[in-house]
Amino acid sequence: MISFSRVTKRYPGGHEALSGVSLAIEAGELVFVTGPSGAGKSTLMRLMAAIERPTAGTVMINGQNVGALRDRALPYLRRNFGLVFQDHKLLFDRSAFDNVALPLAIVGFPRREAARRARAALDKVGLLRHERANPVALSGGEQQRLALARAIVHRPAILLVDEPTGNLDAASAAALGELLKSFNEVGVTVVIASHDEALAARLAPRRLALDRGKLADTA
Ligand SMILES: Nc1ncnc2c1ncn2[C@@H]1O[C@H](COP(=O)(O)OP(=O)(O)OP(=O)(O)O)[C@@H](O)[C@H]1O
Ligand SMILES: [Mg+2]
Repeated sequence: MISFSRVTKRYPGGHEALSGVSLAIEAGELVFVTGPSGAGKSTLMRLMAAIERPTAGTVMINGQNVGALRDRALPYLRRNFGLVFQDHKLLFDRSAFDNVALPLAIVGFPRREAARRARAALDKVGLLRHERANPVALSGGEQQRLALARAIVHRPAILLVDEPTGNLDAASAAALGELLKSFNEVGVTVVIASHDEALAARLAPRRLALDRGKLADTA
């Protein structure tokens, strides 16, 4: 589903965020990416989602070579993914409902269908009764679940979640962990970048350990 072959990512300025990373993730897997701050976890996630292209090496997603695709082909490839970013990027001047429904409207869903799906996604993460609330009025855990609802509303095959429990208390983190597990159990491939050992213990995922841009052999 996702495979990296000797992937290197160098940012402008010369810093090498990933060095010679090779890995393969199969459909239906639940994977944890661990590693200290700056190890390259978010960079790895952005490459997996075809948000960035590798400097060297090959990233294949569903049989397509990301580095060789034309720019206009990338949005189609990205529809395979649901993304929850480290800073979750919610729209704070819009309702919870709008945050989830707008991405569907943008890709051309009819309004009624977008609304139906948005409500189903909000219901799945336990936020339907907050659909009219702005994200500022939600707790950290609720905001994170809202970001998750937005990520799954188009029913992606692959869910990439970057530091989902960074600012959450233990109970909210556990609730989020259960949600991620439930998506994996219905067949969604889930990749989580996280330092949260309690979450790892709960999910028993396959682990990929990054250190200064390199993947440990144990992966
Ligand atoms: N857009 C960018 N431009 C330049 N350098 C970047 C960029 N994004 C990341 N880096 C650098 O690449 C390295 C890896 O960053 P990355 O964000 O992938 O780490 P991380 O493992 O996600 O860290 P954290 O746990 O703090 O989120 C860091 O040294 C970072 O400063
Ligand atoms: Mg990061």
